[in-house]
Amino acid sequence: MRERGFNTKAIHGPGTRFPLQSVSPPIYETTTFRYDTVEEGAALGVDRGEGFYYTRWGNPTTVELEARVALLEGGEMAIATGSGMGAISTVILGLLQSGDHLVAPRAVYQASYELFAQILPRYGITATLIDRVDVEAYEAALRPETKIVYVETPNNPLLDVTDIAGVVRTAHAHGALVVVDNTFASPYNQNPLVLDADAVVHSMTKYLGGHADVTAGIIVGRRDLLLQLRPRFRVYGPVLDPFAAWLVLRGLKTLGLRMERHNQNALGLARVLAKHSQVERVHYPGLPEHPGHTIAHRQMRGFGGMMSFEVRGGIAAGARVVEALQTAVMAVSLGSVETLVTHPASTTSVGIPAPDRARAGIREGLIRVSVGLEDLDDLVDDFTRALEAP
Ligand SMILES: Cc1ncc(COP(=O)(O)O)c(C=O)c1O
Repeated sequence: MRERGFNTKAIHGPGTRFPLQSVSPPIYETTTFRYDTVEEGAALGVDRGEGFYYTRWGNPTTVELEARVALLEGGEMAIATGSGMGAISTVILGLLQSGDHLVAPRAVYQASYELFAQILPRYGITATLIDRVDVEAYEAALRPETKIVYVETPNNPLLDVTDIAGVVRTAHAHGALVVVDNTFASPYNQNPLVLDADAVVHSMTKYLGGHADVTAGIIVGRRDLLLQLRPRFRVYGPVLDPFAAWLVLRGLKTLGLRMERHNQNALGLARVLAKHSQVERVHYPGLPEHPGHTIAHRQMRGFGGMMSFEVRGGIAAGARVVEALQTAVMAVSLGSVETLVTHPASTTSVGIPAPDRARAGIREGLIRVSVGLEDLDDLVDDFTRALEAP
């Protein structure tokens, strides 16, 4: 039988029938579940019983969300978490132990960087943070004790692209696991598990929720790996609230439609900005001149809604442009229906010394854009007017 399409899977999930013939998944806003005999309670506590026990162990609303995201990523199992960092910390701390080694790019999400560079060493785990994100750079950093190879693609802030299949081949040949942060791409545009990665993490706060109104995360992957992680997750405790799970379930139903429009708007805006005299450079994997274009074309269905560009005139010009925007909103985060912009040199990265910022690719006039779902003409007008403002 033909495999169902992305939107059908996102809307119907695995076909769970809900109580009272409810079409929308019910919200089980309860922390605990009744059992009738002590034997039943004892079995549920060790995962051998039928049914639910305690929401940190599992909750029907959250389980439905886990099943749907697993389906969309091509994974066997998922664990939803209270934030993207909850997912990342659980995978990394849950799989590594003293003596292990991790390879990751220096240019990962800031809190992931802090986990790798500052927190892991306290537990006797070493990390090699690489400056380039190509397969050769990953391979050169591998050691016999490397347990996890971590990928974030496309990444922040220059939308660099890593060849997932290439890294997986190299890492697996050395006996290491591959974990991919798929937040920027979303499961609509990219499925690392299909390319043989071992686990995927998402900040569902971003595209999966999609409306900037819920903080959530998820780990998806092979059953044996996730079964290993589940007892640790229950101890660390970054549990997702059932109402938050339901908000993400609602967001998921339109993920495919939204991503199509994010992809179109970002490509349209990137093309216009690339021709503007005030713009020095545009970083978007959908543009043929982007260094990651060929790999992105091979491993992504669309190029995503994230882009960045460099304004001529340095830090003052960058700040002036973001402040002059009227439709796009100055705010951190990404993946919502609204277009969001940040000027890292004057805001999110203001505490980093200029030479370190430059090393991380954060040039003075760099503006990051999470392109939303507004009408493209309005976005083009807004950015053009802001670039030309006195
Ligand atoms: C790529 C990426 N991964 C992980 C996270 C962390 O997600 P959360 O804020 O939901 O903990 C973020 C948040 O901005 C992100 O951009």
